[in-house]
Amino acid sequence: MVLQDKYAPNTNSAFEHYQAEHRLSIADTSAYWGEKAVTELDWFQGFDSVQQGGFLHGDVAWFVNGKLNTCYNCLDRWIEGRGDQTAILWEGDEPTDTKAITYRECLRKVCQISNALKAQGVKKGDCVTIYMPMMPEVSMVMLACARIGAYHSVIFAGFSADAIADRIEASGSKWVVTADEGLRGGKKLPLKAICDQAMAKDACRGVVEKCFVFARTSKTVNMETGRDVEFDSLVAAQRPYCPCEPMDSEDTLFILYTSGSTGKPKGVLHTVGGYSLYAKVTMKNSFDLKEDGSDVYACVADAGWITGHTYIVYGPLLNGTTTFMFESTPMYPDHGRYWDMVERHKINIFYTAPTAIRSLMRFGDDAPNKYDLSSLRILGTVGEPINPEAWRWYYEVIGRSNCAVADTYWQTETGGHVIANLPGAVPMKPGSCTLPCYGIDTVVLDPATGKELEGNCVEGVLAIKQPWPGMTRTCLGDHERYLTVYMKPYPGYYFPGDGCRRDEDGYIWITGRVDDVLNVSGHRIGTAEVESALVAHPAVSQAAVIGFPHEIKGEGIACYCTLTVGVEESDSLSKELKTAVRTAIGPFATPDLIIPTASLPMTRSGKIMRRVLRKIAAGESDQLGDVSTLADPTVVQVLIDKVEALQ
Ligand code: WTA
Repeated sequence: MVLQDKYAPNTNSAFEHYQAEHRLSIADTSAYWGEKAVTELDWFQGFDSVQQGGFLHGDVAWFVNGKLNTCYNCLDRWIEGRGDQTAILWEGDEPTDTKAITYRECLRKVCQISNALKAQGVKKGDCVTIYMPMMPEVSMVMLACARIGAYHSVIFAGFSADAIADRIEASGSKWVVTADEGLRGGKKLPLKAICDQAMAKDACRGVVEKCFVFARTSKTVNMETGRDVEFDSLVAAQRPYCPCEPMDSEDTLFILYTSGSTGKPKGVLHTVGGYSLYAKVTMKNSFDLKEDGSDVYACVADAGWITGHTYIVYGPLLNGTTTFMFESTPMYPDHGRYWDMVERHKINIFYTAPTAIRSLMRFGDDAPNKYDLSSLRILGTVGEPINPEAWRWYYEVIGRSNCAVADTYWQTETGGHVIANLPGAVPMKPGSCTLPCYGIDTVVLDPATGKELEGNCVEGVLAIKQPWPGMTRTCLGDHERYLTVYMKPYPGYYFPGDGCRRDEDGYIWITGRVDDVLNVSGHRIGTAEVESALVAHPAVSQAAVIGFPHEIKGEGIACYCTLTVGVEESDSLSKELKTAVRTAIGPFATPDLIIPTASLPMTRSGKIMRRVLRKIAAGESDQLGDVSTLADPTVVQVLIDKVEALQ
């Protein structure tokens, strides 16, 4: 091992312990997870077998016939001993707007929400759509669903009405929970009005029965009689205790829609037993949590993404820790907001994305240097490979070269971290997510042959060889798609869709998606979704959407659009097309470049040569490679000139 650089821990016994424990955990995953399930979770009824099924048939099940409740494990089990400890420490859009909610208070309110949902007809097995701002109630509604056995489908509050309608239609969700408005960076977001638009669409007609509306700003909003319910007063009128529904380990805890290679988002499904165990264990390990729950832990993601589900809500509460929730943006009221919060709340563990680090780094070191950041112990990063410059700034300027940086690789489908360095145990390398988590058997495959690449210094695609409890079990209503996307590309393995390199020390370096999924500011966006939004516009006859390197966002979105005959290109048309994408998906998917063109580089067999488009958008037109198979090679120079003019 040549890992003796300055990021190595002082002793290597911790590293040896990790290596030995990891070897054991994958030598017999059932023994490993079976023991963890018993020690880490409270069960109403024990399970008959630890694991059954496999990747080949997509019939994986964990803790078979066990009965438990995730909300019980998040709240009730901590009441004795930690009832008065803060469960949710919330900071609103204005730095002065803070709330500390204890485990006992949280349980009472979750029970009231549970009873309110039940009183309105929500039943075990129902799907509840949640479209809410980052107010404490978003976590509480998720927990209430878990308590009564309904499963939630949280939709990030940046999604458009069209996107909400698609998801409501796909899940058949009869129930929607929202708020009057959201508040972010001093701006108001009309969440109820957006829900109204979604519910009025054909796709949702006859689907939604009730829409429960929390007051965040107390603005008067449209309330449709018979459908819309003012939720705060209904909740307040409920009894603050509600029994937990005993759930089967393999019952659904939630679904979460995520982008894939086709235009239709997938409803990734997670289960009660396996997900809860995996969320708890990875949370504890990756952030080296103190057993007594005394850490103040802050993940500044949004609850609407998987990071928020696992590492704002479930992971921290399953561990009895204090979880910080943040409603605003890192730039409001100024770019020192994160560091101001670290000082004021004495945050010990801070978890964010490379894109946020890069955007704050631009302002220099003055802001972080103004604040006392000595409470910090661990810094986490997630969402995309972190570039070494951003890593160093995070480590040196934020962490004062005194904190471990945990680079956590995972995805919506994995439920929790699958590759990450254990702080203080696994030596760090800036830009590498390092080594697999316990119970995760990673391999690098040759993408062409599907054969495992042995040894170090190899490059290929990442795959996982054995089931783990946190893995998604299906795509809601479309098991075939689940098999096609994850299980069939490399039979016998789970395929996450990422390329990777294993270096001379066996460390994994993620090289990015190998499918048509973009990673824009850590948000997954399918190129097909953007393309279908563009071609829905009458001015566009064909669209090819590709990603290109972007300094802050990681990847930017470039849209090459062939215009309908007779349509002239103009700035106003480009603006209209950007709006079309915002309307179909949401503002976070706004294209960076719209490149109208008379034609696209096609092979003689009629396939768009995306490789060429990618190189042009990246400004690497000197490295186009062989373009001799193009039907019309002259189109290439035209596009190069257009992109240069735009950038
Ligand atoms: C990428 C977010 C490198 C990867 C939790 C993955 C990363 C996709 C990392 C999942 C990381 C996430 N290093 N790449 N630490 N974390 N990714 O589902 O391409 O929104 O497949 O989950 O983000 O995105 P998702």
